[in-house]
Amino acid sequence: MLRVVVCVSGGGTNLQAILDRVADGTIKNTQIVRVISNNPKAYALERARSAGVEGICVSPKDYAEREAFHDALLAAVQEAEPDLVVLAGFLVAIPPKMVEAFPSRIINIHPSLIPSFCGVGYYGLHVHEAALARGVKVTGATVHFVDEDMDSGPILLQKAVAVQENDTPEILQRRVMEEAEWELLPRAISLIAEGRVRVEGRKTFIK
Ligand code: GAR
Repeated sequence: MLRVVVCVSGGGTNLQAILDRVADGTIKNTQIVRVISNNPKAYALERARSAGVEGICVSPKDYAEREAFHDALLAAVQEAEPDLVVLAGFLVAIPPKMVEAFPSRIINIHPSLIPSFCGVGYYGLHVHEAALARGVKVTGATVHFVDEDMDSGPILLQKAVAVQENDTPEILQRRVMEEAEWELLPRAISLIAEGRVRVEGRKTFIK
């Protein structure tokens, strides 16, 4: 059984997609053991509780120093003894300690085709604003392993999504979620649960 901790910050639609695919058996041999939010008001915590999964908050506001927050976050993850940590709209930069503790065992979903529109400052709606401002015709989503830098780890899955002329950032965000994110993130977990993913340097191989 693959034990999974999911980290969230907001609405939690990606978390919901994962919970639904575990519940309907599409993701096999996997248990979501804990959901951690940095934001006490995140609706994602409600989604966790509705699915019978423990949802807890580790907020930076409760710690005077960033380091203490990072330690508490790592402790909350480690306590759940996960095999895999999934960042599903988690808008906190992952501390190096966490990457060291879980090498090639943290994955993240990003709402663009990496290496476009990623890195510091590119999160949530900002990613889609930047894609529209640049006038790209195609965008998409990426699931990648997390390393020491932002959005730079080995890419596991990507899916392209067409941009349309009248798109607003909100409309594009929704299309990228519906057509790419909610499909890719559950599939990534499924592939890892089935032992089908190998990471070598900056590349991944799926068997
Ligand atoms: C998703 O679009 C996710 O790709 C993005 O935040 C949104 C969270 O939505 N993540 C990032 O931008 C990470 N850099 P959700 O809470 O409804 O899943």
